[in-house]
Amino acid sequence: MTLPKIAPSILSADLLQLQTQVQAAERGGADRFQIDVMDGVYVPNITFGAPMIAAMRRATTKPLEAHLMIVHPDHYLDEFARAGADLIIVHQETTRHLDKSIQHIKQLGKKAGVALNPATPEGALEYVLEALDLVLIMTVNPGFGGQKFIAYTLEKIRRVRAMLDARNPGCDLEVDGGIELATIRATHQAGANVFVAGTSVFGCADGPQAGVQGLLQAAQLDE
Ligand code: DX5
Repeated sequence: MTLPKIAPSILSADLLQLQTQVQAAERGGADRFQIDVMDGVYVPNITFGAPMIAAMRRATTKPLEAHLMIVHPDHYLDEFARAGADLIIVHQETTRHLDKSIQHIKQLGKKAGVALNPATPEGALEYVLEALDLVLIMTVNPGFGGQKFIAYTLEKIRRVRAMLDARNPGCDLEVDGGIELATIRATHQAGANVFVAGTSVFGCADGPQAGVQGLLQAAQLDE
C-alpha cells in the first residue's frame, strides 16, 4: 500500500493566520497544499482566485494544487500557472474539450489533474488516463468544507486505482471531502494515496500540526 500524502485545503484555514497555519501543517507532515478556487457558478460558493495562489507561493515551498471548481477553466489556466500553481486540477464536468485542457496545462509546464464529482463515472477518464499526473475523486459534492463523506465513492476509488495500476501507476489518486480519521483509512485501503483535508486539519482542536499528524497515523494503521 502506498505512503499517504496529506494536502491541507486552505478553504477551512483562518485566513488571518494563514502563514502560521500553513507552517504548522508543514511541521505536521503536509506534502502539498490545495487552494479551492470556486466561482459561485459551477459551485454555490465564491472563494479565491489567482492572488491567493500567489500569496500561498510566498508562504510555503511545498507544491501548490489549484483545484478549479469554476466554469470556463481554460480561460484561467495561464493566470493560475503564472501565479505559482504546480498542479492544476480541472473538473471533467466543466470542460467541453478535456483533452485540450490537459494539454494546455502541460504546455504551461504544470502537472495536470482531473476531478470527478461523486456521480460522474470513472469511464470519463478512459481516453485521457495516461496523460494525467493526478485523478481527484470528489468524496463530497463540491462547494463547501465540513460536509459528510459519500460512502458510495469508495467503489469508484477502487475502480480508478485498478485503472491506474494497469495504465498509469505513477499517477496520484487523490480524494477530497469529508476526509477525517475514519474515512482516511477507508479511502487509503480503497487505493487513494493523496488526501485533501480542510476541516480535519485547520479545524483540529490541537492545531493544524496535530491534525496532519493524526491523519497520517490513521491512514497507516493496520498496515
Ligand atoms: C469542495 C472542497 C472541500 C474541501 C475539503 O467542497 O474541495 O472538499 O477542500 O473539505 P473538508 O476536508 O472540510 O471536508
